Amino acid sequence: MSTSAKQAQRTVTLTFNGTDKILELPILEGTNGNQGIDIRQLFDKTGYIAFDPGFTSTGSCESAITYIDGDRGILLYRGYPIEQLALHSDFMETSYLLLRGHLPSRDEKQAFEQRIVRHTMVHEQLRGFYQGFRRDAHPMAIMVGVVGALSAFYHDSLDINDPEQRDIASYRLIAKMPTLAAMAYKYSIGQPFIYPKNNLGLVENFLHMMFAVPCEEYILNPVLVKAMDRILLLHADHEQNASTSTVRLAGSSRANPFACIASGIAALWGPAHGGANEAVLSMLVQIGHKSNIKEYVAKAKDKNDPFRLMGFGHRVYKNYDPRANVMRDTCHEVLASLGIDDPMLELAVELERIALEDPYFIEKKLYPNVDFYSGIILRAMGIPTSMFTVIFAMARTVGWIAQWMEMIQDPSQKIGRPRQLYIGPEARDYVSKDLR
Ligand code: CMC
Repeated sequence: MSTSAKQAQRTVTLTFNGTDKILELPILEGTNGNQGIDIRQLFDKTGYIAFDPGFTSTGSCESAITYIDGDRGILLYRGYPIEQLALHSDFMETSYLLLRGHLPSRDEKQAFEQRIVRHTMVHEQLRGFYQGFRRDAHPMAIMVGVVGALSAFYHDSLDINDPEQRDIASYRLIAKMPTLAAMAYKYSIGQPFIYPKNNLGLVENFLHMMFAVPCEEYILNPVLVKAMDRILLLHADHEQNASTSTVRLAGSSRANPFACIASGIAALWGPAHGGANEAVLSMLVQIGHKSNIKEYVAKAKDKNDPFRLMGFGHRVYKNYDPRANVMRDTCHEVLASLGIDDPMLELAVELERIALEDPYFIEKKLYPNVDFYSGIILRAMGIPTSMFTVIFAMARTVGWIAQWMEMIQDPSQKIGRPRQLYIGPEARDYVSKDLR
């Protein structure tokens, strides 16, 4: 499926040490007009490093999974526009697409779902792990711990050089994330863990494990199932973001997949990344009323105030995040079908309107991102705020695995090892304690 980037006829000429030395750097071409300067020989040939904190201009890999055109607000999974997938596909089918590169036939989809569903239970001893956490632990803290701990339980799927073991580890991770996530929630509220029911699909099972109790029957609401499915689909992959790059970097050292995904969860947790969905809701609560919006927009624009409009801005999108469009429509649909009149939605719509008309946000091309509306939907579904980023992690696990698999099979990938510009003291002699 994956083909390498082509080497263009054109090159870039780098002149260094005055004008007496030159280096011709090849230009690589990907799909959709993507271009990069291949600087792999830069250090060897010149002794210089490329300096790019935050990797704003650095490509770390070739990838055939996800494509973003940030200026035009386009997101493609394996070539398919996110809007079409959100409308016609579902999370399991999209997961197959991300992992395997093509849309599954009916039989392929069924076989895939059956493989996943066989792995929904977790080792019984892992359940005891939860007791070690404080009841008020953030579920993301629990997830970082228990997902990493899977490598202590599933020794038969740790050999990354064996394609079959890699597949089993992937199925295990996708299947067990909802179970582990629901257990983190149940633990926090002091309710018994609910075992998965394998006659349910992944999304239904997750809602069942979250909301069922042993003494009552839990009836699934199809509106909630559809909304959760769409949220998972929209979050499933997003090319080389901070958490995905973390998974790839951890994986480049040949670490086992459970440890790599745990590292991705840790990176996702931050409010500048996946933690933003939780932060958006806290921000809306803080703003409280439409009459306070102007004050908060002014704070967001003030360089001396650390406050930022959460759910706004993106490193790559300099236009509307296409996921935010779908999310806003879904938000209206879900609230209408649940008969919920949430003042937070009204507040969010008004905040979006005011920010999008403000010269600061226009000039800096700051638009709502995927996290702006997702929290309002999740809240309407009865999901507590602390679980928002966990749900993001459940969805993104598929993307992390697809990217990790691609990296493991890419012969050009080496251990990730950035360089630095050292600005510390020059070499100096040790001074004994009594002379300091
Ligand atoms: N509110 C106010 N000002 C902002 C915001 C914001 N949300 N985002 C960026 N800016 C300003 C920023 O102050 C900077 O101004 P200046 O050029 O005068 O220094 C300019 O816009 C560029 O921002 P940046 O921080 O250099 O851009 P970045 O690409 O490094 O950061 C970002 C991208 C997403 C971290 C940032 O926009 C942000 O912090 N947004 C709020 C958090 C958020 O919603 N994160 C979710 C991202 S989407 C989902 C995901 O990735 O998980």
